[in-house]
Amino acid sequence: MDQFIYQNPTRLIFGEGQVKEQLVAQLKPLGTKVLLVYGGGSIKRNGLYDEVTTLLNENGFETYELSGVEPNPRLSTVHKGVEICKKENIDVILAAGGGSVIDCTKAVAAGAQYDGDIWDLVTKKEKPESALPFGTILTLAATGSEMNSGSVITNWETHEKYGWGSPLVFPKFSILDPRNTLSVPKDHTVYGIVDMMTHVLEQYFHPQENTPLQERMCEAVLHTVIEAGPRLVENLEDVKLRETVLYSGTIALNGTLQMGTKGDWASHNIEHAVSAVYDIPHAGGLAIIFPQWMRHHLEMGEEKLVQLAVRVWGVDPEGKTNQEVAEEGIRKLEEFWTSLGAPSRLADYNIDDSQIDVMADKAMINGPFGNFNKLNKNDVTEILKASL
Ligand code: NZQ
Ligand code: ZN
Repeated sequence: MDQFIYQNPTRLIFGEGQVKEQLVAQLKPLGTKVLLVYGGGSIKRNGLYDEVTTLLNENGFETYELSGVEPNPRLSTVHKGVEICKKENIDVILAAGGGSVIDCTKAVAAGAQYDGDIWDLVTKKEKPESALPFGTILTLAATGSEMNSGSVITNWETHEKYGWGSPLVFPKFSILDPRNTLSVPKDHTVYGIVDMMTHVLEQYFHPQENTPLQERMCEAVLHTVIEAGPRLVENLEDVKLRETVLYSGTIALNGTLQMGTKGDWASHNIEHAVSAVYDIPHAGGLAIIFPQWMRHHLEMGEEKLVQLAVRVWGVDPEGKTNQEVAEEGIRKLEEFWTSLGAPSRLADYNIDDSQIDVMADKAMINGPFGNFNKLNKNDVTEILKASL
């Protein structure tokens, strides 16, 4: 494995009743002027908004709001948040929602302390030098944004969607109560399961050698989600299953699985290019692209694909070639996702071949990418064509 230094400064507060128990105590040291950031209204429908605003009001906080953060959060909304922070001298931001709300909050936090346009930071032209502190209340198990320093922002005017990050935008605290995820509808529950599984898979396909524990840890998260996921999709109000999947989503992308390795992340890059052109759910795109990325690596990635097929999907290798075993593993992954209700072809989103070149160019913006294996434009085009 590679040398590494691991530090994750986010205080993770997990379990039922923890908003009431912890929110005020966690926010108090960070200031009194709070910007509450949320999405299209799910927190109003499930009662979290009332709970949070009551706690803030009763405890002397001065609260401002940024609402309507879109799934695939947009630069225009980040701008609105930055403006409120600068105008009102906000001390601390509180994100209540899914990955989109948290990612938007990270950009607002950095943008509030930056003189230029936040898009400079997202496109990595400039590096943030400071950021407002923020905490999160997660309502959807998926991205891991609650305990990492990444953020993905879409500029809908130029159809660009990029990930950026900085150690300055780790949440100060994140409160995860599985009860706050009970109202997530079936489709987003499925997308969340797919997203966390692809995060694990991206990290499983790393080029480093001698990483037996990292691989076993990835496999453990996959096994857990493969067991709990289908049961949860059939029992959306089961708080124990919500708890298991919620914790899995955080572990899948809080750096734990990537110590000493560099995950691949090519499929995520391709998906961001797809959803920059077509506003589709992130994990819907991944469910389609990831298996095709794997097929593209049947030869050079054979050993890892076989290991995954045998250890995670229980494929019996007896009497089969390595490529047959690997392909059977890929098929089992596809079958698992489609059995939950995830899409498997771009056609499921009415996406045809007309924009393949545009999407491939967007994916190639920083040149060849992927750590397991570098992809060039031809590779990306082939993967997208196979995804149609
Ligand atoms: O907007 P509201 O009304 O809150 O509704 C949301 C939204 O429509 C709804 N929802 C969330 N919690 C709910 C709920 N509905 C009912 N009950 C609840 N408790 O779910 C919908 C999707 O929410 P969103 O936040 O968009 O989903 P997700 O958490 O999957 O985030 C997706 C975004 O994260 C980025 C993606 O690219 C995408 O933009 N990613 C961020 C990463 C990171 N920061 O580390 C890594 C990921 O790979 C990903 O790229
Ligand atoms: Zn993802």
